[in-house]
Formats: sequence, structure tokens, C-alpha cells
Amino acid sequence: LTVDVEAGHYDTGGYEHYLLKEISEQPETVARTLSGRLDERFHIAHLGGLNMDARETRSFRRVKIIGCGSAYYSGQIGAQLIEELARIPADAEPASEFRYRNPVVDPDTLYVAISQSGETYDTLAAVQELKRKGGRVIGIVNAVGSAIAREVDGGIYLHAGPEVSVASTKAFTSTAIAFALLALHFGRVHDLSPAEGRRIVDGLAKLPAQIEEILEQGPAIAELSRKYAVHPSMMFVGRVRGYPVAREGAQKLKEISYIHAEAYPASELKHGPLALIGPELPTVAIVPDDELLDKNLTTLGEIRARGGRVLMIGHREPGAKLADDVIVVPRNEIELDPILLTIPLQLLAYHAAVALERDVDKPRNLAKSVTVE
Ligand code: G6P
Repeated sequence: LTVDVEAGHYDTGGYEHYLLKEISEQPETVARTLSGRLDERFHIAHLGGLNMDARETRSFRRVKIIGCGSAYYSGQIGAQLIEELARIPADAEPASEFRYRNPVVDPDTLYVAISQSGETYDTLAAVQELKRKGGRVIGIVNAVGSAIAREVDGGIYLHAGPEVSVASTKAFTSTAIAFALLALHFGRVHDLSPAEGRRIVDGLAKLPAQIEEILEQGPAIAELSRKYAVHPSMMFVGRVRGYPVAREGAQKLKEISYIHAEAYPASELKHGPLALIGPELPTVAIVPDDELLDKNLTTLGEIRARGGRVLMIGHREPGAKLADDVIVVPRNEIELDPILLTIPLQLLAYHAAVALERDVDKPRNLAKSVTVE
């Protein structure tokens, strides 16, 4: 499989699949998303493409994020970043749902449409409906000059390069980073202090090297994938910042390996899905070292007490009592950690799909971009 992209010829560059190539090139693609946008003097983000002055930036009271599939999950990470850093209420919704429910378009809300391809019809139709009703819409888009990029009032290009494999990886990561830049930008025109701004700028600058560190664990993650891929179903859990990570991890696994995967907020387990837990259903738990660590460790104990196996993705070894296996990722700032916690889940899904001999780059029934109704 080779694809001609614009003028250049694009191939797997020596990797077995586009997906592995795209996962592996994230240190560079992330650096490109950040390039020229971090200001270390004023601890702000430069986002000239937004076409918005400071007064307008201050005028929004809410942020509504829309996108489909992985774009929607990265939007959930984005909503949390905006709430945490800028203290502006924000939420994400599938664009496919938004467009069909005759949404109330509010003049005090900034709408953010996310799309790797810029051609997803549900997202485009939602943007057009918003524009028709006078909504202010910006885009976070990878494909330059695409339909959504042309329709919005301004935005952030990812500069992640062409993504060929159907399952999104590098665009997901770069979208989350674009949201961190947007949240920093909004935060600094509101009440985020210069010192806090610096903490985020420094954290963002560290990401490419930390992603490289995670990628070096590829062989160990491949081994874990082979171990867990024998199960027909898996549970993914995370709390607050970890929850969108769990959702994206489950999405990746089902898309390319066809293993059934459910994602739940860890806090919701006891309200239903705990009934499913047992030796036959392993759990992938996203456990960052944040203020919810103790709560998450308690959840692991509850899963283990019911005979459930646990693969923990986090910042430390919790001990053999709480997890069967652990993938330790480098720590960044707590608000940015979800970005790094997602990377091992991409590798986990990739190697599970390879172990099960799936069509990794072109999973059955899916298209890279759904340009029809
Ligand atoms: C399709 C793909 C997904 C992707 C979604 C949104 O459903 O299979 O992998 O996340 O579209 O694509 P977009 O190009 O709008 O980000």
C-alpha cells in the first residue's frame, strides 16, 4: 500500500505498517505542532491563526468542542485543559450528535471543531449549522485547506503531516497539544499567572523527548499486548483526566484489533460494570500521580478482589497486590499527563492487532474519513 500525498511520495518508511510509522514519528510531529508557538519570555502561546484579539478572546463565557471518533475524545481532553487552565466552562460532544439535535447557538460560546482530515461530513455539517446561526467557530485541523479549515473563522493547524492509517494516533496527540496551547492562551488572557504559564510552557517543551522515552518501551509493550490479546473483551477505566485517555485506549483497541473494549470512569465501576469484573475480563487502568491517585488505587484493589487482572498505565509501580502489569510513563505537569498516558495505549492496540493478524492500517468496515451522511 502506497499513497501519493500532494507532490511527495509517501510510504511506510521502512516500518511494517503506516500505523507504527505514525506512532513512532510523534516526537517530531509534536515538535512541529509546538514549533514557533511557545513564548518563553511571557509564558504564553502564539496562535495567530485564531484571528482573535485579546478583547474578543476574553469575551467568551463557554467553550463547546465538537468532533467525531478520536477527534471527540481528544476534545474531551481539550475541555478539561480549558477548564483547568483558563477556568472557562468547556465540554465536548460528538459532532454527529450535535448536528441532529437542533442545538441552541449561544453568542457567548466559542465553538471548536476538531478534524484530522477536515472533511468529516458530520463535523462539517455541524460547523455549517453553527455558522448559519451566527456562532463563532474555530477549527483544530490537520489537513491544510480542507473543507472544515475553509469554513471556520480561524484556528490551529496541527502540522502533523499526512496520517494514512485509518486509526488516528499522531493527529490525536497533536490535537490534545493544540488544546493545551489554546488553554494556555485563554488562561493567560484571564487569570493564569506568569509562573503557572511558565510551568505549562516548560511542560509542553518537554513532551517530544518524553514521548521518545515511551516509544523505547515498544518491545515490552508488544509483549504485554500478546499476553492480553487472548481475551475477547477488555475494560478501560480512568478518573477525570484519565477518563478520556481510557476512552481513546478502548477506541484504538476495538478499531484495529476487533477486541471488544468498554471504557468507564473508574468512579462509575461500582454503579454497574463491576458486575462484569472477573478473571475473564482484564482491566486497563489509567492511574496518573495526581490528587486522585489514592481513589484509583482503591479501585484497582476492588478489581483485584474480584479476580480481575489489571494492567496499569501510570507513573509508579503500585505493587503486585494492585496490578498484574504496569507500564510506567514519564511524568509531566498533571494537566498535560493525559497526552503521554495515551501513547502506550496506541502501542498496546497496535501490537494486539498485529498479534491477531488484523488488517492494521485498514480495519474492516471503517474509512479514514467519513465524507458522507
Ligand atoms: C473516522 C475514522 C476515525 C476518526 C474519525 C474523525 O471515523 O475512522 O479514526 O477519528 O473519522 O476523523 P477526522 O478526520 O474528522 O478527525
